[in-house]
Amino acid sequence: MNKERRLIIAGNWKMNKTVAEALSLVEDLTRAVASVKEVDIVVCPPFTALESVSRAILESKNIKLGAQNMSENHFGAFTGEICAGMLKEFSVRYVILGHSERRQFQKESDALIARKAAAAHAASLKPIVCVGETLAEREGGQMEQVLETQVRGSLAGLTKEQMVETVIAYEPVWAIGTGKTATTQQAQDAHAFIRAQLAKMFDEATARKVRIQYGGSVKPNNAQELMSQPDVDGALVGGAALESRSFADIIKNSV
Ligand code: PGA
Repeated sequence: MNKERRLIIAGNWKMNKTVAEALSLVEDLTRAVASVKEVDIVVCPPFTALESVSRAILESKNIKLGAQNMSENHFGAFTGEICAGMLKEFSVRYVILGHSERRQFQKESDALIARKAAAAHAASLKPIVCVGETLAEREGGQMEQVLETQVRGSLAGLTKEQMVETVIAYEPVWAIGTGKTATTQQAQDAHAFIRAQLAKMFDEATARKVRIQYGGSVKPNNAQELMSQPDVDGALVGGAALESRSFADIIKNSV
């Protein structure tokens, strides 16, 4: 597939996988995608498996490591938190920020996510900033307003250079883990809307360089159609990333 931007497909393992299970998954995945060169592939295990997975992919040329969250602070008295510097010790390159589950259960705000994004960039980690509307918001005709608020708030204060090194994941909350995928047109429309916001916040050239992933029930059988949309530059995959075969098939079907 000839895309304007390089595809980035990330697996968000959420709170799943022991170290042994994580190793088994990533070893199988490494073999399954060894020949794929056209896609940035990222795996985001839980913190407890980062070190082992990091070692396991040391030799892999095309699989990079991501974390699922981090603190906005650099060190200190923040019990239970993990900072960017700690992630860097395991060669983590990406960090998911503001996933809808954290917005919902940990009450993460756009302002907090923006501080985390700034802290990630300060440590040369690339943030994957998640945005997306709920079903009630979509049905209430508020989708654009919600996306605009989240995009402006969560990316506030970034420089153009940092924005280009930031990935956005558009994840309609109603499509996460539900088996309901946005139609390709719904995904394209939301991505184009987000890119238009970036053009207003930064400029057209910056907006054109930013990769926007789609997330929400991405599976091997819908990946190709989603990726064929001009503003869809990859996927953030939850459930289907927990098994090497389905994640590898999503990747292979996307190129
Ligand atoms: P899903 O999750 O693929 O299981 O819908 C996506 C996500 O939450 O990132």
